[in-house]
Amino acid sequence: MISPALVKYSVETIDWTPAGVVMIDQTRLPRETVYVTCRSYVEVADAIRTMIIRGAPAIGVAAAMGVAIGALQARDLEAEMPAICETLAKTRPTAVNLFWAIDRMRKLYESLRGQPLDAIRGRLVREAQQIKLEDIAINRAIGANGAPLVPDGKTVLTHCNAGALATAGFGTALGVIRAALEAGKKIDVFADETRPFLQGARLTAWELQQDGIETTLITDNMAGHFLKSGRIGCVVVGADRIAANGDVANKIGTYSVAVLAKENNIPFYVAAPISTLDLALVSGDQIPIEERSVAEVTHVQGVHVAPDGIRVANPAFDVTPNRYVTAIVTERGVARAPFEESLRALTGK
Ligand code: MRU
Repeated sequence: MISPALVKYSVETIDWTPAGVVMIDQTRLPRETVYVTCRSYVEVADAIRTMIIRGAPAIGVAAAMGVAIGALQARDLEAEMPAICETLAKTRPTAVNLFWAIDRMRKLYESLRGQPLDAIRGRLVREAQQIKLEDIAINRAIGANGAPLVPDGKTVLTHCNAGALATAGFGTALGVIRAALEAGKKIDVFADETRPFLQGARLTAWELQQDGIETTLITDNMAGHFLKSGRIGCVVVGADRIAANGDVANKIGTYSVAVLAKENNIPFYVAAPISTLDLALVSGDQIPIEERSVAEVTHVQGVHVAPDGIRVANPAFDVTPNRYVTAIVTERGVARAPFEESLRALTGK
């Protein structure tokens, strides 16, 4: 059994401070390590929308802290609570952790009605801090459950950033990698660059480098080449929303990697907290997919690389059908097909 206390990570993603909600600005990494302070729920919502903070669990924590700061500053909390929750909920549509966290805060608020205002505010702030602490503990448990699945002496391929930066700390997919290393496995990482927002090149490569984890950056179109090479032992990715049948929404490009992994008989693991499950959705077809700006595709880091006026598509996520998913690693255990049964068993529903 891995002792979670032994497993280190060096990045602090988000924190509650007296000045406001402090976040590392992920749009400026890796060139600049800058922390921004969001001093109102509107600023927290802007930070989620503009991807200063991103990654499903991290935006859940940010939204909870946004509700808390909104509650602290509201003149008429009962009247303003719906707008606070709605503003935060409208920031991004795909990662269900956002709505899960807002719902948890709203339900707590409703259960506290009638208590003194200061007590309600204090309780909401503590709940948001609790959601952050729980997320770190959950990621450590995901790591402990996933580490035994990682083949020793091989390379792990990952897509996007499902690390400390995408969570309150430690990471989901990168948490599995960290825990496997802590267990003494000799592994290294291949990180897909993850066009168009470059979460792999900018964030995963940086985060793993900070911790001295051996990492090779590849462009997305190299994944098939390396999956065929015999070098990759498994793929581990995170998730933004998982339907009841085990279909997985994750960063655009995940589906292609999953198909290539199956073609080459390489296990494809999804590491995610229970809060990423959306069992109300029968299949991944029902998951809303965020469409982001044209400029993310026509420009690379501010440089225009496409002709003016070209039509552009920019879905931020895709859905990997459950048949490509070897297992879903959660804090409560590992689910395998048939996922309708195994996921419900883990949630007790
Ligand atoms: O658009 P992003 O950067 O928020 O997308 C993030 C991902 O797709 C991650 O893989 C997912 O949220 C899991 S993070 C633990």
